[in-house]
Amino acid sequence: MEIKKVAVLGAGAMGHGIAQVAAMSGMEVNLRDISDEFLQAGIEKIKWSLDKMAQKGKISQEEADAALRRVKKFVSLADAVKDVDFVIEAIPEKLDLKKETFREVDKNAPKHAILASNTSALPISEMASATTRPERVVGMHFFNPPQLMRLVEVIKGDKTSDEVVRITAELAKKWGKEPVIVNKDVPGFIANRCTITGSNLVHWMVYNGEYTVEEVDAAAIHKAGMPMGMFGLLDYTGIDIAYSVSKFMQEREPGFKMSPLLEEKVKKGELGVKTGKGFYEYPDKKWVPLDLPLEKAEKFDPFIPTYVGINVAAELIRNGVATRDDIDKALKLGFNLPMGFLEIADSLGIDVVVQKLKEISAKYGPFYKPSPLLEEMVKKGELGQKTKKGFYTYE
Ligand SMILES: NC(=O)c1ccc[n+]([C@@H]2O[C@H](COP(=O)([O-])OP(=O)(O)OC[C@H]3O[C@@H](n4cnc5c(N)ncnc54)[C@H](O)[C@@H]3O)[C@@H](O)[C@H]2O)c1
Repeated sequence: MEIKKVAVLGAGAMGHGIAQVAAMSGMEVNLRDISDEFLQAGIEKIKWSLDKMAQKGKISQEEADAALRRVKKFVSLADAVKDVDFVIEAIPEKLDLKKETFREVDKNAPKHAILASNTSALPISEMASATTRPERVVGMHFFNPPQLMRLVEVIKGDKTSDEVVRITAELAKKWGKEPVIVNKDVPGFIANRCTITGSNLVHWMVYNGEYTVEEVDAAAIHKAGMPMGMFGLLDYTGIDIAYSVSKFMQEREPGFKMSPLLEEKVKKGELGVKTGKGFYEYPDKKWVPLDLPLEKAEKFDPFIPTYVGINVAAELIRNGVATRDDIDKALKLGFNLPMGFLEIADSLGIDVVVQKLKEISAKYGPFYKPSPLLEEMVKKGELGQKTKKGFYTYE
C-alpha cells in the first residue's frame, strides 16, 4: 500500500507542523480545522516556516511554494478524509473528542486508510475502539516542533496490525523522520516515560527539603554538563507542560505519584520564563543563563534521574515494549542528548546503577526497585564497558 495523500486534523501547534513535513515530502495534504480562521492561522505558520527554510538555503523558494500549494484547507471533516490513504489527528488532548473524531473519520475515510493519533498520552486502543477498523489505528507521536524534531514514536494499540505499524514507520521515514516502535501502549511511550519518572523523584527530593533548586542545578551544570540545569530547563520550556505530562502519568501509571512541586507553581501562575517567574526570576521574560557557584554542586548527585530512567528503560526491554536501540535513539533524538540512557548505564556500570537504585528505593519506596533485568545482568557479570558487555558489547 502506497501512501500518496494524507489528511491532518487540527491546524494548531502540532498539526500545522505535521502538515508541513508531509507536504515537503511531496504528498498532497488535506488540513482540517473547525473554522476557517484556525485554518488560515495554521497556513500562515506553514508559510512562515517554509519561507524561513528557503531563506536559510535548506530548500529552494520554488520547493517552499510548491509544498505550500500541496496543503488544502478543509472545514468539513467528511470532505477532508474522503479520498486519503492516511489520516493523522492533532486535535486537543481530550479522549471524548478524539473518540468522536475517530468515529466520524471511520465513517468517511476509504476502507484502506490508516487512522493515526498524535496523542501524547491517551490510549490508542480506546480511540481504535470507536472505529470499525481497530487494526488500522496506530499512534504516531511527533515531538515539538515537528518540522525540526526528528523523532517519531509509532505506537501499537491492542489490535493494531504489524503491517500498519510498518507502513506508519515507513511513512515517518519518507517525511524525513526517525521512527521508533512502541510495541505496547504504555503511558509516556519511550522518551517521556524514561525521563519523567526520574525528574519526578528529584521534584520530590526538593519538595521534601533534601536539596535546594540551586543545589540540583549547580550539580547538573557543573557535574553533568546540562547547560540549563534541571529547573532552569523547566523554566525555559514551561512548568505547565511538564506538569501536564506528570499529571497524565499519575492518572495512568500505577505507582507513579506526582510530586506537588510543579502543581504549586502552576497554581501560582509561575510557569517559568514566559511569565517572568518560575523556579528563578526573569524580569524581562527572557531566558538568562544560570550563574551558580561550584560549591553548590557538591551535595546533589546529578545522575539520580538517570539511574531511575535507566531502570524504566530496562523494564521497557524486559516487557517487550521497545528495543535497546530504539530506546537510546528515542532519548537522543527526543531530548538532544549525546548518549542514550542504556549507553550511559554501560559507562556508569550496571552494578553501580543497581546499587544506587537500591539506595533510592530504600528511601523512596518499591516503585524505584532495580529492574530484574538489571539484577540479572549483575549476576551474569555483564556490568557494561568495564566487563566489555552490558546493554552493548565492547571490543
Ligand atoms: N504541543 C506539544 O508539544 C505536543 C507534542 C506532542 C504531541 N502533542 C499532541 O498533539 C495534539 C495537538 O496538540 P497541539 O499542541 O497541537 O494543540 P493545539 O491546541 O495547538 O491545536 C489543536 C487544534 O485542533 C483544532 N481542533 C479542535 N477540535 C478539532 C476537530 N474536531 N477537528 C479538527 N481540529 C480541531 C483546534 O482548533 C486547534 O487548532 C494533542 O493530542 C497533544 O497532546 C502535543
